[in-house]
Amino acid sequence: MTKDKEPVVRGFHVVCIMAIIVGAAIQFSDESEYLVNMSKANLTHVPKGLPPKTKVLDMSQNYISELQIPDVRFLSGLTVLRLSHNRIRQLDFSVFKFNQDLEYLDLSHNQLRKISCHPIVSLKHLDLSFNDFDALPICKEFSNFTQLNFLGLSATKLQLLDLLPVAHLHLNYLLLDLRSYYVKEHDTERLQILNTKILHLVFHPNSLFSVQVNISVNTLGCLQLTNIKLNDENCQVLIKFLSKLIRGSTLMNITLNHLEVTWKCLVGVFQFLWPKPVEYLNVYKLTIVESIDEEDFTYSQTTLKALKIEHIRNRVYLFSQTALYTVFSEMNIMTLTISDTPFIHMLCPQSPSTFKFLNFTQNVFTDSIFQNCSTLVKLETLILQKNGLKDLFKVGLMTKDMPSLETLDVSLNSLKSDQHEENCTWAENIVMLNLSSNILTDSVFRCLPPRIKVLDLHKNKIKTIPKRIMKLEALQELNVAFNSLTDLPGCGTLSSLSVLIIDHNSISHPSANFFQSCQKIRSIKAGNNPFQCTCELREFTKNLGPLSSEVLEGWPDSYKCDYPESYKGTPLKDFHVSQLSCNPALLIATIGTIVLVLAVTVTFLCIYLDVPWYLRMASQWTQTRRRARNTPLEELQRTLQFHAFISYSEHDSAWVKNELVPCLEKEDVQICLHERNFVPGKSIVENIINCIEKSYKSIFVLSPNFVQSEWCHYELYFAHHKLFCEGSDNLILILLEPIPHNSIPSKYHKLRALMKQRTYLEWPKEKGKHGLFWANIRAAFNMKLALVTENDDVENLK
Ligand SMILES: *[C@@H]1O[C@H](CO)[C@@H](O)[C@H](O)[C@H]1NC(C)=O
Ligand SMILES: *[C@@H]1O[C@H](CO)[C@@H](O)[C@H](O)[C@H]1NC(C)=O
Repeated sequence: MTKDKEPVVRGFHVVCIMAIIVGAAIQFSDESEYLVNMSKANLTHVPKGLPPKTKVLDMSQNYISELQIPDVRFLSGLTVLRLSHNRIRQLDFSVFKFNQDLEYLDLSHNQLRKISCHPIVSLKHLDLSFNDFDALPICKEFSNFTQLNFLGLSATKLQLLDLLPVAHLHLNYLLLDLRSYYVKEHDTERLQILNTKILHLVFHPNSLFSVQVNISVNTLGCLQLTNIKLNDENCQVLIKFLSKLIRGSTLMNITLNHLEVTWKCLVGVFQFLWPKPVEYLNVYKLTIVESIDEEDFTYSQTTLKALKIEHIRNRVYLFSQTALYTVFSEMNIMTLTISDTPFIHMLCPQSPSTFKFLNFTQNVFTDSIFQNCSTLVKLETLILQKNGLKDLFKVGLMTKDMPSLETLDVSLNSLKSDQHEENCTWAENIVMLNLSSNILTDSVFRCLPPRIKVLDLHKNKIKTIPKRIMKLEALQELNVAFNSLTDLPGCGTLSSLSVLIIDHNSISHPSANFFQSCQKIRSIKAGNNPFQCTCELREFTKNLGPLSSEVLEGWPDSYKCDYPESYKGTPLKDFHVSQLSCNPALLIATIGTIVLVLAVTVTFLCIYLDVPWYLRMASQWTQTRRRARNTPLEELQRTLQFHAFISYSEHDSAWVKNELVPCLEKEDVQICLHERNFVPGKSIVENIINCIEKSYKSIFVLSPNFVQSEWCHYELYFAHHKLFCEGSDNLILILLEPIPHNSIPSKYHKLRALMKQRTYLEWPKEKGKHGLFWANIRAAFNMKLALVTENDDVENLK
């Protein structure tokens, strides 16, 4: 984001870096396929047996001291050869005469003193810098290197005609290592005109700058100087050197690396360059020495667009801060970067300033920076990353008088938001605010610029996004990654939200209605949260639907279950719970349905198959059998003459004679029937009693007819009486036809009671059921009873 706000600075990079990339491009082509990396392998010789197809061979940082034809001749496809940081002392370029494709040759940082030449016309990158050459190692064959882009050289002395063979080449980058260069007394050396876009000169790191060479360069776009040590006395040497190089030049970029300088000289160099055709000035690794005093600076018309100073070390301990900062704060340029310095402050410009872009990353600025400063009227971007800011309220206050401010980056500070949030003031136009890596809490949402579009709050201490926050209707991108949030926010007050970054929080059940609330969401990054793989989560992923991979950034890899334990580490996409177990209403409905179906089935069985009847019959049968087994046989045999007495209504006699009697007699059951066995001369009642007394069981055939018959009731009465007297279970009730309960006259309470107990056998209408019915009847007589003869009985009666 900040880079986008730095168009001018970017322009510089394009010019200077493109030139380098041309060389680098060769370096990386096809590397993966035929790359042999033998860097740092303690080699003293080029090893035998390299793959003949090798294209890229890296043998840098070894102890190789020589290179011969047999070492490389069979590598016919070799395009890149890195031999930097070895111990090669001399080289005959004809060793490469069989390597027709060689484009990149790095021999820097060896001990080369001598080369013998041979034209390698394919060469694009040749680095011979940082060697022990005396004169520039250029031979006339170099003039054929028409493809050459990069040339690195080193020398201890320069001569006018040294560069002649390469003067006509159109180089991109010329690196000249002059570390061992020594000055001849009062003798200004000259180098002839050459064509290069970038000229990089490296001087001795520890000697005062003393190069007196007069180099003229055509088409120079970038000048880089490395290792410049200046004091007040030799400051002019550099200025003179620069003035000759810049003379007649078009606009250019100047970069100074490793500059050790007095404050007075530094200001002098700036003052010298101010009216010159320089657009971008970069200083990397600046050390200020001796003293810092107030220096006059005339801010004349300048073409300078950007000044960038990175990494300042100050070896002056007592000085006026104002003297130091005023030079920078009053600069009439658009872009200023001062980063990685021990600066504790920056002054507010005295008059309306031209600054549009200020980058003060990694200094030690405090909350007092730019307080009540109303001259930064054009400032659009302010970066105060990695400083000592503490109070968010004050940061807001600082921006109050910056009417053009759109982008503010105060990340990596120690900002807190716990006071007076309600009255926060912000520049009206801020659209991008970077508050990441601070110690802000939930209350930050009450102290934000009202028109904010992009808000970065990652790596803070936010636990919730409060419901009651100011309306942030313009907010489109919100980054709250690496906080302690437990849920996704609703978009009630964030109506324009389209990008949400909320990974690495504590979200276990993201609320499913997020997507209803946040209609405009285009992208959400919510991975690496401790998801609880439960039903709620299922709702959430379901709401995503097929959009998962488009909307959810990092899907599916960074979305994993954290709980329950059995699912830990399972990707969310593989987590499935059934619809049923997640929906209580559905669950109840399903159980209800099952119960209903069962009930219907049971009812069906009862109605159409008469299951209860079967059950009842079966239970009677088992009971009868049990009782029969329990009754001692001898006791029964004493008095009995018949197995059964049958009592029935005249109206049912057809059934009794055709069905019941034949069936029983088939089983050898002796039956006492009144028309057959009643003794003449005795009263009916006597006969009945007699019959019942002499029978093992009494069978009553119940039907509405039975109820109407008075005699039948007598019979039942006696039989029941016997039941109570003897305690034996002698009654078998057969319900031939259903008897409506209320049709039984109330005086026959015995019958009523028996009917109520429902201990009767029902005569089934369906033929299929008759078998079981008879089996039940038979079970009641399942015994071997030896009966006394009728004669004995007559005797007994007497
Ligand atoms: C905010 O700053 C941090 C760290 O300084 C950086 O990584 C991040 O990309 C910035 N955010 C935006 C939206 O530019
Ligand atoms: C090279 O030699 C050093 C010192 O003898 C040793 O520590 C290192 O492991 C060696 N490296 C390789 C790649 O053999």
